[in-house]
Amino acid sequence: MGHAEFTLRNQASQPTISLDELWMPFTPNRDFKADPRIVVRAEGMYFWNDRGEKIIDASSGLFCVAAGHGRREIAEAVHRQLSELDFVAPFLRAHPKSFELASRIAELTPGDLNRIFFVNSGSESVDTAMKVALAYHQARGQSGRTMFISRERAYHGVNFGGVALSGIVNNRRRFGLGVPGVAHMRHTHLKENLFTSGEGAHGADLADDLTRFVNLYGAENIAACVVEPIAGSTGCLVPPKGYLARLRKICDTHGILLVFDEVITGFGRTGAPFAGQSFDVVPDIMTMAKALTNAAQPMGAVAVSERVHDAIMGAAQEGAIEFFHGYTYSGHPAACAAGLATLDIYRDEGLFERARALAPHFQEAMFSLRDAPHVTDIRGYGMLAAFDIASDGVPGHRGHVLQKKLFDNGLNLKTTGDCALLAPPLIAEREHVDVIVDILRKTLSSL
Ligand SMILES: Cc1ncc(COP(=O)(O)O)c(C=O)c1O
Repeated sequence: MGHAEFTLRNQASQPTISLDELWMPFTPNRDFKADPRIVVRAEGMYFWNDRGEKIIDASSGLFCVAAGHGRREIAEAVHRQLSELDFVAPFLRAHPKSFELASRIAELTPGDLNRIFFVNSGSESVDTAMKVALAYHQARGQSGRTMFISRERAYHGVNFGGVALSGIVNNRRRFGLGVPGVAHMRHTHLKENLFTSGEGAHGADLADDLTRFVNLYGAENIAACVVEPIAGSTGCLVPPKGYLARLRKICDTHGILLVFDEVITGFGRTGAPFAGQSFDVVPDIMTMAKALTNAAQPMGAVAVSERVHDAIMGAAQEGAIEFFHGYTYSGHPAACAAGLATLDIYRDEGLFERARALAPHFQEAMFSLRDAPHVTDIRGYGMLAAFDIASDGVPGHRGHVLQKKLFDNGLNLKTTGDCALLAPPLIAEREHVDVIVDILRKTLSSL
């Protein structure tokens, strides 16, 4: 490969940076380095590129900057924390803010999901949730329950547990089958529900795939059913009406734990703290990350029901480590400080309520694109939406071109293949939504 470098434009010193050494994640590196798009600043709803051009952020970074960019309160809280206590081991030692943040999260979680385990990312939260499920069944003398049931088109991160759960063929093509004993229910994207805002009328019976796996593998072998309440990365697949409640019922009947992966849907995206509350279904275990710290620090967490937690605690000998798991940076002081400052913002600015209030306008604006060129479906719920565009013959190519053109036209969003995902920061005003849809329409017309 040839050498690639880039001169930052419009900067005080106009430095030239080498592009060779950084191996970028989930990026066609050669394509990017031939034509880089570099961001140098962010505030509120906007990024600025190195030319000083303003780009509206329609995906909250990667669904994480819910309170908008550049929040000073969070930066100052992190600075204060690092100046006072930079680090203490989370094993056998602790600092007050980790307890405080766990309590604050437990105030937001539904039901008795009141025991919080800290991790550093969404991927780690998924693998941790899988281990909690295994530990729970083992604690109750049911160590045969090792299988996991997930779903086609699911995305559960990049660690081996999450890769095995994910319903993405490229994972298996590149990395093999990963963790054994995972079966996938059918996804819920049905042609009967095309162009539906909110829950589709068709498809609740797809939850019965779980019963079929019970009949095929035996409930005594199944640990948990893991789903995103709204499948996010694959393109905002909103559950059909009644689907999640049906999964809950089947899990209860067969002693299977229900795990909701709320890494994207957590912290107000659906207008409630968590999507489970929007759909009135309480899981046994819930993962979260991203907006937990407004992306100012890497952090994730797993909320576990008291029942599941207590079973694991109760099975261990007095003085023994009850759950053989943890990361060096579990509950890092800087991340906890960022999390607390973020939850203060969500509460003080009423951002979850604000999301609920803006959602009808956002959804209506998104669905106004139904007659835009190339659009083949639109889906959405709360402040999350997606549209598919027709393939140009090479799957994902047109989507890739679209996200580049959108950026050049002043709009940042995430695409997955030929699907564009929208999740504006929850501080958005109606006018921001209108600007986003305007740029989308113009760009689609010129595609
Ligand atoms: C539902 C879900 N789970 C897990 C992850 C992985 O999170 P991370 O990239 O922080 O590891 C993501 C990331 O988008 C996600 O959407």
